Formats: sequence, structure tokens, C-alpha cells
Amino acid sequence: MLKNKIAVITGGARGIGFAIADKMAKNGADIAILDLCDDAAGKEACEKIASNGVKCSFYRCNVSDFAQSEEVVKQIITDFGRVDILVNNAGITRDKLTLAMTEADYDAVLNVNLKGTFNMIKHTYRQFAKNKYGKIINISSVVGLMGNAGQANYSASKAGVVGLTKTIAKELATRGINCNAIAPGFIGTHMTDEMTEAAQNEIKKSIPMAKIGTPEDVANLALFLASDMSSYITGEVIKVDGGLYM
Ligand SMILES: NC(=O)c1ccc[n+]([C@@H]2O[C@H](COP(=O)([O-])OP(=O)(O)OC[C@H]3O[C@@H](n4cnc5c(N)ncnc54)[C@H](O)[C@@H]3O)[C@@H](O)[C@H]2O)c1
Repeated sequence: MLKNKIAVITGGARGIGFAIADKMAKNGADIAILDLCDDAAGKEACEKIASNGVKCSFYRCNVSDFAQSEEVVKQIITDFGRVDILVNNAGITRDKLTLAMTEADYDAVLNVNLKGTFNMIKHTYRQFAKNKYGKIINISSVVGLMGNAGQANYSASKAGVVGLTKTIAKELATRGINCNAIAPGFIGTHMTDEMTEAAQNEIKKSIPMAKIGTPEDVANLALFLASDMSSYITGEVIKVDGGLYM
């Protein structure tokens, strides 16, 4: 489905980002993964992705750093020639009730989840517009749509990603570029592993399908949005949540 396409995935070394990179590689795309992780972890992830018979390179990058992400995008375009698919997946949490949340907790989450997404779009925007082709996929969250106690920073960042997605979709709609967001519910990754078993069981009770999703559930939708099967879909926010929020 993605033969000869070049996909850039932020936070691609593990979790949902890795599953998306691996799924796209299985479908023929060459992959650049950006992550904060150390070189050994990045290299290991890349080797697994490249074992699908595609090119994969790891770039150590903090997406919240405007200048650093600009340099990395330039390097990717030098190494791969262009970017066809951009997946803004890197994200963090610093959960606390607002009473206990510090300014640093708030800023850290907004800087990675929202500003990091803006940075990557900003630095690839010109080449997308010039190439008149592109698929931008931003990973939001159901809590950006429904709110969640203890996640003022995270839910605000993910709601911001929705506004950013629709704006970019409108700005680039006539240039052959689709920009959509995925809003996962509870997906089993390091992010959710940090929760106690009791908290996880409580969550399962609120999910109509009564189970936590897998990174592959999200990757399947990302593949569809990255492919030309979704060419008339833009500015959408699609949930992958087992019916949690409807
Ligand atoms: N797991 C869930 O239940 C869930 C639900 C909704 C949305 N999401 C979103 O999905 C995305 C992936 O989450 P995950 O569960 O796979 O998390 P994860 O913690 O397993 O993986 C996140 C990856 O992003 C990288 N990263 C973090 N900060 C970065 C930065 N500043 N620059 C570059 N890379 C950075 C991490 O090193 C890590 O490899 C996030 O945006 C998250 O908010 C997750």
C-alpha cells in the first residue's frame, strides 16, 4: 500500500509509534524514526523495522526543540530525498490534579505534545506544499475530546492537536495533502503500564468492548490514513477506543 513512500514517525522507537512504523514498513514504506531514546534503543527499533525489507534510519531528536527538529528534518530530506508521510506521535504525560500540577508539568506536556507537532509540521510544510503530495497524521487522544480529571495539561495538548489538524487540513487541502488526527482510547503501552492494575481494571469497565486496545489497532488506522484509500478524507479526528467515547 505504501511502496516507494517515505514516512517520518516521531516517537517511533516504541509503543504506538513503533507499531505504526513497523506496519508502514510491512507495506513497503521507507522509514525515518525520531525519538529521544538512546542510540542503542533507536538502532534496535530500526533493525526490526528494516527487517521488513525497507530502509530505516533513526534520528535522535527532541521534537519540542524548534531548531533541533528543523535540523533533523533537513537531514532526513538529504538522506531520503523527501517526506511523503508525517506521523506526529511523540507524546508524554505528567498527570496530576490541577491543584498539584506545576507550571513545569503543564509546560513540559504542551511543549512535546502540541508544540512538537507544530514544529514537525512547520519544518515539512514547504516541501509538502511544493511536492503537492502528503499525508499528515497527528496522534491526539480521546481525552482531548472528552477531558479527564488529572490530565489538564495532557487533555489541553491533545485538544490543541485537533485544532492544529483542522487548520493544517484547510491550509493544504488544495495541494494534495491530507491532514487527519487519530484519537486513541486506552492502548497497552509503556504509557498505560504506569497505571496500577486496579486502575486498568476500572478503565476496562468504562470501555464498551471491555478491553484495552493494542498499538496495532492504532497502526491499522494510521496505515489507512497514510494510503491513497483515504484520499478524500481530511481534517477528521477518528477514534480508536473500543467505544469508550461516543
Ligand atoms: N497509550 C495510550 O493509551 C494512548 C492513548 C491516547 C493517545 N496516546 C498517544 O499516543 C502517542 C504514543 O504513546 P505511547 O503510548 O506509545 O507512549 P510511549 O511512552 O510508549 O512512547 C512514546 C515515545 O515518544 C518518545 N518521545 C517522548 N518525548 C519525545 C520528544 N520530546 N521527542 C521525541 N520523542 C519523544 C518516547 O521516547 C517514546 O519512544 C502519544 O502521543 C500519546 O499521547 C496514547
